[in-house]
Amino acid sequence: MSGMRSFLIAGNWKMNGDSGHIRELATGISSGHEPVEGVDVLVCPPFPYIASVAGLLAGSGIAVGAQTVSENGNGAFTGDVSATMLKDIGAAFVIVGHSERRTLNGETDTQVAAKFVAAQAEGIVPVLCVGETLEEREAGATEAVIGRQLAAVLDAAGIGAFKKAVIAYEPVWAIGTGKTATPEQAQDVHRHIRGLLAAEDEQVAGGVQILYGGSMKGENAAGLLGMSDIDGGLIGGASLKVDDFLAIVRAGAAVRK
Ligand code: 13P
Repeated sequence: MSGMRSFLIAGNWKMNGDSGHIRELATGISSGHEPVEGVDVLVCPPFPYIASVAGLLAGSGIAVGAQTVSENGNGAFTGDVSATMLKDIGAAFVIVGHSERRTLNGETDTQVAAKFVAAQAEGIVPVLCVGETLEEREAGATEAVIGRQLAAVLDAAGIGAFKKAVIAYEPVWAIGTGKTATPEQAQDVHRHIRGLLAAEDEQVAGGVQILYGGSMKGENAAGLLGMSDIDGGLIGGASLKVDDFLAIVRAGAAVRK
């Protein structure tokens, strides 16, 4: 099954960088990147830089996305950014439900599902993040938590929506901690996620890319990407350095060869 799916190597730059650094990062990734069949690349800059990065990466084959989106259409929502605007400035993807937004901004499962729907309504591919905290894992609640997070989106959007969506499994305890899930730990959860989708539609489940996120770097990427249900990575820290990010892209290319 994994032979049918492309990898997606995605950088989540979070709230980092300034004009100079972001320009260096975008041009560095673009000039160092050797496109490989079956390995797609995406970067998600902070809102103010999306348009300029989209310009810098035009024609490079590297896609640009946002890190969140409003669930509402244009209107009186001070400080928010709509899917219409994201599309207008060249974002092809948007991360929804990142654990930092769920925790720090109080985003609920229902709200995340609404963001997923709003993105797709504009033809933007949502990258839906799911994942358990350490406490939840230790309580044996990993599958229940992920089941709940996924069910909210299935209820709102339906299984068909996953033909044009990406899922990212990001165990909260592995984000920014230097602790990575082992390939086996990640694979178990990825297989479970695909199983939940397969219960609704096997073909859709077989096609959906499920990325791993949480302290992924050049040194551990090959092991993770070698697992049958891991279809790429959502990378934070290591996506902020050209060489570190490209090392993960190259690891994906080596696995796909
Ligand atoms: P790190 O790669 O820094 O652990 O972050 C992962 C992440 O949250 C990507 O969205």
